[in-house]
Amino acid sequence: MRYAAITGWGMSVPERVLTNADLERMVDTSDEWIVSRTGIRERRVVGPDDSTTSLSAAAARQALARADLTPDEIDLIVVATCTPDQFVVSEACLVQAELGGRAAAFDVGAACSGFVYALSVASLFVQHGIHERVLVIGADTLTRFVDYTDRSTCILFGDGAGAVVLEASDEPRGLLSTVLGADGAGNRHLYAPGWGAVVPESAALFPEFRPYLQMNGQEVFRFAVRAMGDAAAEAVERAGLGFGDVEMLIPHQANARIIDAAARRLDLPLEKVWSNLDRYGNTSAASVPIALAEAEATGRFAEGDNLVLVAFGAGLSWAAGVVRWGIAGVKRTVPPGGVGTAVDGGGRRIATGAAANGRAVEVAGV
Ligand code: UT7
Repeated sequence: MRYAAITGWGMSVPERVLTNADLERMVDTSDEWIVSRTGIRERRVVGPDDSTTSLSAAAARQALARADLTPDEIDLIVVATCTPDQFVVSEACLVQAELGGRAAAFDVGAACSGFVYALSVASLFVQHGIHERVLVIGADTLTRFVDYTDRSTCILFGDGAGAVVLEASDEPRGLLSTVLGADGAGNRHLYAPGWGAVVPESAALFPEFRPYLQMNGQEVFRFAVRAMGDAAAEAVERAGLGFGDVEMLIPHQANARIIDAAARRLDLPLEKVWSNLDRYGNTSAASVPIALAEAEATGRFAEGDNLVLVAFGAGLSWAAGVVRWGIAGVKRTVPPGGVGTAVDGGGRRIATGAAANGRAVEVAGV
């Protein structure tokens, strides 16, 4: 059986920091209110030279370097975003243009749930033998679409990108289970009017039209706790595991109270739940892969450990999956006459093989 192991990962956020103190000068709010209601202290926001593409490419380069691969060796790029730099062409094509290579490229749209959706789609390509190496990116620059006079939304969002590389493995690594869901009728609770093909008409009819993010915070909050808890529990069950087998829950970073409530619903101690919300706010599709990259850097999980990724977002949508960390069973074929290297998850060289007599050799993972 083929699996899709995560062999590389990376993240990128813009340099500019927007603190709660900055927001106090822009809208009627306070650091105390924002921290106690959301857990957010600061977020990163794009500057004039940043874009969804530049953040995505930076995260992707890190992930490729970790996997010891070049863009030419990638077969497919999938980008999860709701803030592409252009609607035509896909964000994935813009990223490919930036990185180089000839990978197939397409986008997945599921708002904040997007990265987990994209990971599950991309994993299928690897599992079914259609592609060997896939780059999956979650990236958003929602601050470009946030109304900085609306205190109920402008305090929440930040920008960023996270990326992973998937490679075929014959050991159970990468996504072991997936739970995807949506309640389209709930679209009215979190949406941005007029980013699509109906804009010209709407804009003509309503000159005061404001294409900013609209949100019913309380409704989304209630939905989020239920959806994250239930999807995570189902993903663990579908993987044939219990929460005792799970090393860490990596949830979408939207609100500390949502994360705490979901963890309580799952009876999971908070030490097992990753959060970096205080520094980045809600980065939408980037939040889970950024959290994954930062959690890995702490050394809290290793080869063979089980992680649960879970997200919710506009749609309304939700997504969860169990990921078994590590690269066991990943093999790289060295081209005839060439020399190849296998690396471990930390980018360390673990095996080198050289092709002899024009025959390819395989360099196995750990
Ligand atoms: O990826 C998905 C993205 N969306 C979410 O995750 C949103 C989920 N929802 C939430 O995180 C929370 O609902 C919020 C953080 C948005 C709001 O927190 P809340 O505890 O649900 O507050 P609320 O909407 O019930 O508002 C309570 C009060 C209101 O004032 P009144 O009517 O009681 O006088 C608001 O006007 O807080 C007021 N308020 C603020 N006050 C100071 C709302 N925003 C602010 C603010 N600063 N920034």
